[in-house]
Amino acid sequence: MPIPAQSLKPLVFVAALIPAALLIAGVMGVANQSLGPNPIREMLHVTGKTALNLLMITLTVSPVRAATGRIAIQGIRRMLGLFCFAYALLHFLVYAVLELDLDFSDLGREIVRRPFIVVGSVALLALIPLAATSTNRLMRKLGRRWQTLHRLIYPITILGVWHYYWQVKADIREPLIYAAVLATLLGFRLWRTRRSTHANTQGGIRFQP
Ligand code: HEM
Repeated sequence: MPIPAQSLKPLVFVAALIPAALLIAGVMGVANQSLGPNPIREMLHVTGKTALNLLMITLTVSPVRAATGRIAIQGIRRMLGLFCFAYALLHFLVYAVLELDLDFSDLGREIVRRPFIVVGSVALLALIPLAATSTNRLMRKLGRRWQTLHRLIYPITILGVWHYYWQVKADIREPLIYAAVLATLLGFRLWRTRRSTHANTQGGIRFQP
């Protein structure tokens, strides 16, 4: 039985909070949770992976809507995007505050040592205008420009997967799986755009992005 649209939002909300709740439990050492021998690494791992997973899930919303015809599912996209931004920001803060101690004097050497940080930073910076324009008022005010701006989600996800792939030291299987899923989602998007362009030139109805 399909989940009713009104229960989908609170479900997604609670699910998106679970990684943060587990992290807090790990920091406090409660509910059998621990951050292990390298807590900063574990925090970077949980926040980075959650941000990336949320980006990927955000991109699957449109294909799911196209396949099931459930328009209401679109409503959870903004929530997923905002959670993604929150986790990416937390990920950055763990790095800047706990790993670097807010000491950026050696940033040049750090970037040479870990160049993937630049790719992650570009992704995070690009998420800012999306989060900042996520209100209904700005969506209405910007109109088509809003849609164009929010297409940034595609290059941002590419940067996220690239950042992940680049920082992996040995086993690249998992980032490659992410890359394959992303390629499929982008392929779907391309196919849908081509189909709508074709329908347009044939005088058909334009597919809503
Ligand atoms: C949208 C933005 C970002 C996403 C989606 C993202 C995602 C990820 C992911 C998936 C990992 C691998 C975690 C693991 O499996 O252990 C990771 C690691 C890491 N990221 Fe990010 N990241 C982003 C932005 C940033 C930024 C802005 C910085 C710092 C300026 C950063 C610094 C790091 C560091 C230091 C690691 C750990 C690498 C290591 O263990 O050596 N990331 N990130």
